[in-house]
Amino acid sequence: MRSSRRDGPAMPRGSCHVLGIPPRHIMRLTFVVAVAVTLVSCDDDTMKNLTIVSWAHAVNNKTYLEAALASNVSMLEADIVLGHVTGKDGPPIPVMAHPPATTSDLSLSDFLSTVAQFNNVNAKQKGVKLDFKSIEAFEKAQNLIAPYSKPGVGFPLWLNADILPGPVEATTTPVDPSKFLKLASGHPRAVLSVGWTTQLGGNITEGEYSRNQIGTMLRILHEHHINQTVTFPVRACIASNSQPVVLDLLRETSYLNSSMTVWSAEGDTVEVDRLRALILTVGLERTYLDVPHELAARLQLPPAERTRS
Ligand SMILES: *[C@@H]1O[C@H](CO)[C@@H](O)[C@H](O)[C@H]1NC(C)=O
Ligand SMILES: *[C@@H]1O[C@H](CO)[C@@H](O)[C@H](O)[C@H]1NC(C)=O
Ligand SMILES: *[C@@H]1O[C@H](CO)[C@@H](O)[C@H](O)[C@H]1NC(C)=O
Ligand SMILES: *[C@@H]1O[C@H](CO)[C@@H](O)[C@H](O)[C@H]1NC(C)=O
Ligand SMILES: *[C@@H]1O[C@H](CO)[C@@H](O)[C@H](O)[C@H]1NC(C)=O
Ligand SMILES: *[C@@H]1O[C@H](CO)[C@@H](O)[C@H](O)[C@H]1NC(C)=O
Repeated sequence: MRSSRRDGPAMPRGSCHVLGIPPRHIMRLTFVVAVAVTLVSCDDDTMKNLTIVSWAHAVNNKTYLEAALASNVSMLEADIVLGHVTGKDGPPIPVMAHPPATTSDLSLSDFLSTVAQFNNVNAKQKGVKLDFKSIEAFEKAQNLIAPYSKPGVGFPLWLNADILPGPVEATTTPVDPSKFLKLASGHPRAVLSVGWTTQLGGNITEGEYSRNQIGTMLRILHEHHINQTVTFPVRACIASNSQPVVLDLLRETSYLNSSMTVWSAEGDTVEVDRLRALILTVGLERTYLDVPHELAARLQLPPAERTRS
């Protein structure tokens, strides 16, 4: 689990451009053509450089959801717990909140329908990364996710959970891996984002993903016959100390078009050179970068070639 996360408004970096022109300024007739061209060029770009994808975090209330949809970020990350919409009774339902909170003005159901409505009328699609904080929340969310995990719905849908105990001496209880994978594989269009709990802080400032932790992930993915796209969220300061095993993990899962999603908490001490080396070894085409703006800038990733066909 992300024991600490960055707060405040999203700091979007790059994302796909609608040929540099906001869609609302394109006249109606040319709109459809422009959309088709944009989607192709976006795919093309992000296939080469996933670090372009930009993120909003903890999109767990109505106000912030509206702001994130209006912004230029491409992925909305949000947390789901079992709880209540503020002021409503009844049995607990999946709501958008980060533990220890159990109430929100936004239910998962409303979150998804709002994003879907936005995507129905906007050329630039927003994706969602749903971070499930408990297996109970995920179980109760199945019917809510199902309409959006069918083929035909286009926007990126990621199902995320920390399903294994990880570095350094994480004390958070992971989400039950077996139950999570069984249910998630019922949503074949969704990207599985599966990671490890982490614990840093106090005088623990660095650690490594162990061979054993990586091996356990590989084993459970095999055991559950996972056959959909997978990404592994890894914490920047730990992953940068773990290059050999991270490379093993990605090589062993390349049949799943696997990628890593590098994340970092505000305050983590990151060896920028080592992280940069990891990202360039793995490749920009297999690395999502979800780190504070300042760290992203320090990485100084090499610029796009101008020779693209
Ligand atoms: C996204 O919006 C922010 C301001 O909200 C701006 O600084 C940034 O340049 C924009 N990025 C792109 C790629 O349009
Ligand atoms: C809504 O969410 C944003 C982002 O998590 C947060 O900064 C803000 O304080 C929240 N607002 C309310 C009213 O909870
Ligand atoms: C961490 O800090 C505590 C208290 O400051 C100290 O007792 C402990 O020995 C330190 N542990 C390590 C591994 O340095
Ligand atoms: C992927 O796995 C699911 C569930 O395990 C299975 O129903 C489906 O047929 C598999 N798809 C492919 C393409 O192997
Ligand atoms: C991997 O990508 C290829 C090419 O886009 C696609 O045909 C295949 O279905 C993908 N497999 C997974 C598991 O994502
Ligand atoms: C990839 O994207 C990052 C972030 O937008 C940018 O800094 C970098 O120059 C790009 N590199 C390539 C090769 O596209």
